Amino acid sequence: MKIFSISIILFIVILILNIPTSIYCSPDCQQQQLSTSATSNNRKSIKTIKLLDYSNSISFQDGVGCTHPIYCTGPILNLIQMSQIFNDSKTFVDMPMKYSSPIIIQYFNTMITNTSSKGGPSKQDLINFVSQNFYPAGYEVEPVKPKDWVPNPTFLNDITNPQLYQFASAIHTKWLDLTRIFNNTGLCIDCFSSIPVSNPFVIAGSRFREFYYWDSYWIIRGLLVSGMTETAKGMLLNFANIITEFGFIPNGGRIYYLNRSQPPLYTQMVKIYFDATNDIQFLEEILPILDLEYQWWMKYRVAKVAKNDQLYTLNLYNVSNQSPRPESYFEDFTGASEFSNLNQRDFYYSSISSAAESGWDFSSRWTSLSDINLSTIQTINILPVDLNSMLYLNEKTLSNFYTILGDTNQAQYYKNQSLSRAIAIENIFWNENINQWIDFNLINSNLEENLNFYTSNLQPLFSDIQQDMSLSDELIDSILKSVSEPLTNYIGGVPTSTVSSGSQFQWDDINSWAPLQYFIIEMLMDVNTTLSTQIGTSLIDRWITTNYCGWKYTLETQGGMMFEKYNVTNVGVPGSGGEYVVQDGFGWTNGVALYLINKYHMFINLNSC
Ligand SMILES: *[C@@H]1O[C@H](CO)[C@@H](O)[C@H](O)[C@H]1NC(C)=O
Ligand SMILES: *[C@@H]1O[C@H](CO)[C@@H](O)[C@H](O)[C@H]1NC(C)=O
Ligand SMILES: *[C@@H]1O[C@H](CO)[C@@H](O)[C@H](O)[C@H]1NC(C)=O
Ligand SMILES: *[C@@H]1O[C@H](CO)[C@@H](O)[C@H](O)[C@H]1NC(C)=O
Ligand SMILES: *[C@@H]1O[C@H](CO)[C@@H](O)[C@H](O)[C@H]1NC(C)=O
Ligand SMILES: *[C@@H]1O[C@H](CO)[C@@H](O)[C@H](O)[C@H]1NC(C)=O
Ligand SMILES: *[C@@H]1O[C@H](CO)[C@@H](O)[C@H](O)[C@H]1NC(C)=O
Ligand SMILES: *[C@@H]1O[C@H](CO)[C@@H](O)[C@H](O)[C@H]1NC(C)=O
Ligand SMILES: *[C@@H]1O[C@H](CO)[C@@H](O)[C@H](O)[C@H]1NC(C)=O
Repeated sequence: MKIFSISIILFIVILILNIPTSIYCSPDCQQQQLSTSATSNNRKSIKTIKLLDYSNSISFQDGVGCTHPIYCTGPILNLIQMSQIFNDSKTFVDMPMKYSSPIIIQYFNTMITNTSSKGGPSKQDLINFVSQNFYPAGYEVEPVKPKDWVPNPTFLNDITNPQLYQFASAIHTKWLDLTRIFNNTGLCIDCFSSIPVSNPFVIAGSRFREFYYWDSYWIIRGLLVSGMTETAKGMLLNFANIITEFGFIPNGGRIYYLNRSQPPLYTQMVKIYFDATNDIQFLEEILPILDLEYQWWMKYRVAKVAKNDQLYTLNLYNVSNQSPRPESYFEDFTGASEFSNLNQRDFYYSSISSAAESGWDFSSRWTSLSDINLSTIQTINILPVDLNSMLYLNEKTLSNFYTILGDTNQAQYYKNQSLSRAIAIENIFWNENINQWIDFNLINSNLEENLNFYTSNLQPLFSDIQQDMSLSDELIDSILKSVSEPLTNYIGGVPTSTVSSGSQFQWDDINSWAPLQYFIIEMLMDVNTTLSTQIGTSLIDRWITTNYCGWKYTLETQGGMMFEKYNVTNVGVPGSGGEYVVQDGFGWTNGVALYLINKYHMFINLNSC
């Protein structure tokens, strides 16, 4: 049955294609890098941000973009990446340069000339070229011991189960492995791909050797449990400086991520920090910057949809991009090569980058349903439920922040925004046939209605939409019953979706991810009906047990691994699929585990391994 029997779907383009005005490392930016390196030599652990008069001095751009001649574009990137001398495309673009770009380009040209008689460079020539001209990947991000880390944080005292205690203590110790500081001592200007920041930060782990935007929400969750408020604040200040510099938060701490953002959780990071510290002075400093980030989303990631004569404003992931992601160059270039039509190819590149912006790279949410394959990816046609739920939550949080600081006008503005969005979420996403909120396809809303379960279908409840739209406990329970199979039937947590989409898609099927468990568990415990609490407490136990077993199974051989994702059908076993092998570390898994263990240890039994 067609739920959205819409006669006219009119979406108005708010954003006029923005011509990129900033080339990474213009003289201005070099000046900025110089001053960053100057401050980083006598860095204080917490840098106080200087508030700019942002109303005049920040010019918004649709992603600043990256045109670095080696890390982001050009023949060297193309040749090295297409030769696959590294088994992971990300390795090369994380290697700092020993010499400036013009010199390396000159060496490269000489190598090409030297090898032309034998038909071009061999793999070995390229390997030699790289080792002569580049430092190892991650050379400019050094391990550092966080100053506020202590061996026995107080939260451990409450944990009575000795195995759980040992596990929580081991996770807490992993902050020592995962904290980094940017250090470009001895490197030339413009010779590394890291985005410089002043304060130490926690990385995700393994190939993810820099900070990531949405990952940092769960990392900060965990740091706050560990009592590491100073490290958490330092990370928030790093992001604040990034917003004042670029107008938005990129996907992660590399210049090749400057074309895209990630799910907007910065406001929520500030909220959990504020809730833990009551640091009102910090809130006052940071609030104008949260406002800036919000405006970026409302300017560059917005679409209007008409339905039944009403116009609704909602957001989408919409990266403007016409080239392979440098860190997945081979994969993207190969994937795009099947499109000879340039418009189709650009659509592909934009949709691939936009899926990366969504955090769900890759998922059947973004492809055609009749042909679940990356070649049918269409992220930029889709209004996502989870993105809009996060922005709705941010609007409410911002309204509360302004109320706390006594700015009633701004408080009312954000209140209005949140109410309009709640109405839009109900009218555009709610599907009364399946009792869930589903993504909306702007082009094919009827043809491509995606009625599959994804954890994102419940995101409005996490954002407490029942606060504004009166949803009875009965309705909430019928929503939960509609998803009882995925929520209750798996030994290792909640699967990402009920779609078997194949190995290209790690955000589907039986992979279970810490951030998604977090959203579902928090929602269930907060909704607080008999049914939700019953499912919630069981899920907490299942999730922590699978984390624990995976750690325990690998304790002797690998020091106890914490995976990026798990296989929901199998206790303690990592998930699979995607563009790279499963990663260990792992920032958000650790953060969610510490948070849940601290808050809900009474529900955790660890019975299964
Ligand atoms: C990033 O954006 C810039 C500016 O819009 C564009 O020129 C470039 O092709 C994009 N690069 C990547 C790697 O996405
Ligand atoms: C890639 O190489 C590294 C070390 O060179 C190795 O540890 C890793 O397992 C390899 N990954 C794959 C997918 O082959
Ligand atoms: C190119 O060949 C010249 C002459 O054999 C040699 O001196 C030089 O090192 C080579 N350069 C590169 C980059 O291979
Ligand atoms: C940065 O690296 C240099 C050279 O290795 C070292 O002397 C300096 O102490 C480092 N700075 C920080 C803050 O780690
Ligand atoms: C996405 O952004 C492009 C410009 O980069 C714009 O042309 C397009 O209309 C936007 N999509 C939507 C649905 O607003
Ligand atoms: C995806 O589509 C491409 C191009 O049409 C095709 O070569 C490939 O076999 C498809 N993959 C799967 C898993 O169906
Ligand atoms: C909020 O909405 C009300 C009612 O639509 C309107 O009168 C008021 O001006 C709005 N306030 C702000 C600050 O946008
Ligand atoms: C959940 O509901 C129970 C009773 O219905 C109440 O005692 C408890 O305080 C509630 N918990 C939360 C977190 O609201
Ligand atoms: C998950 O575990 C099951 C059961 O052992 C196995 O059959 C399946 O292949 C695994 N799935 C993935 C995607 O690794």
